[in-house]
Amino acid sequence: MEAYKETIEFWDEVFQEEVDFDKNQPISIEEIEEGLKWLAEGSSSIIDFGCGNGKLLLRCSAFGVDRSVGIDISFKAISTAEELARDNDLSEKSFFRTGGISSLSDFQENEFDGGIISNVLDNLLPDDGRRLLKEYNRIIKPGGKILLKLNDHIEPETLEGWGTEEISDGFYKEETGLYFWNLTDDDVEKLLSQRFKIRKEVRVEFKEHDQFNRLYYLINR
Ligand SMILES: C[S@@+](CC[C@H](N)C(=O)[O-])C[C@H]1O[C@@H](n2cnc3c(N)ncnc32)[C@H](O)[C@@H]1O
Repeated sequence: MEAYKETIEFWDEVFQEEVDFDKNQPISIEEIEEGLKWLAEGSSSIIDFGCGNGKLLLRCSAFGVDRSVGIDISFKAISTAEELARDNDLSEKSFFRTGGISSLSDFQENEFDGGIISNVLDNLLPDDGRRLLKEYNRIIKPGGKILLKLNDHIEPETLEGWGTEEISDGFYKEETGLYFWNLTDDDVEKLLSQRFKIRKEVRVEFKEHDQFNRLYYLINR
């Protein structure tokens, strides 16, 4: 956990802010709402590592998911997720816990029908990122669905201009203290291909930040 000290501080601060959430209202980003519908269809249990305030997972409950498990390293993220679950009468179906990558070893092989990895894989140390994919492959059933969202690849010259520090090849620390594993599309394909089939890839535009995210629909091998 020591390696993520600044990550925890950053997200604890972010999740101090009050949030509104109604499980029956669509997620504001259409591509994510569509991705969650796809994930939830035929999945009765879902895990979300790096779940933040749990909104994506809780929205899946509205699409019929019976058991949701969310894990996050930020204590404040988890307490907010628990509060949103209570406010939406989902406490009996949703379980949240504070933890890092090692907490995944507590789950059984094939325990879940599906999973979410949203904007966290490329903010982990690369060894932890690889371990996350290996663990998802183990704890999600073969044929299970996974929705993966990643930042776009950023040109190294642009990152230099943002004051990031390159720790190792393609792996950076931002001024905020957050890590950024700057994966190209080829890197992503190599990373995924052994354990997952890529069913679909969608580019999600965030106009206000002039940025894109990559959304992958994956099938577990
Ligand atoms: C960009 S937010 C994404 C939140 C949520 N998945 C979403 O898409 O709305 C990244 C989340 O990953 C969590 N996180 C970062 N590093 C982590 C780690 N090593 N273990 C568990 N969670 C982590 C952060 O605390 C934060 O809540």
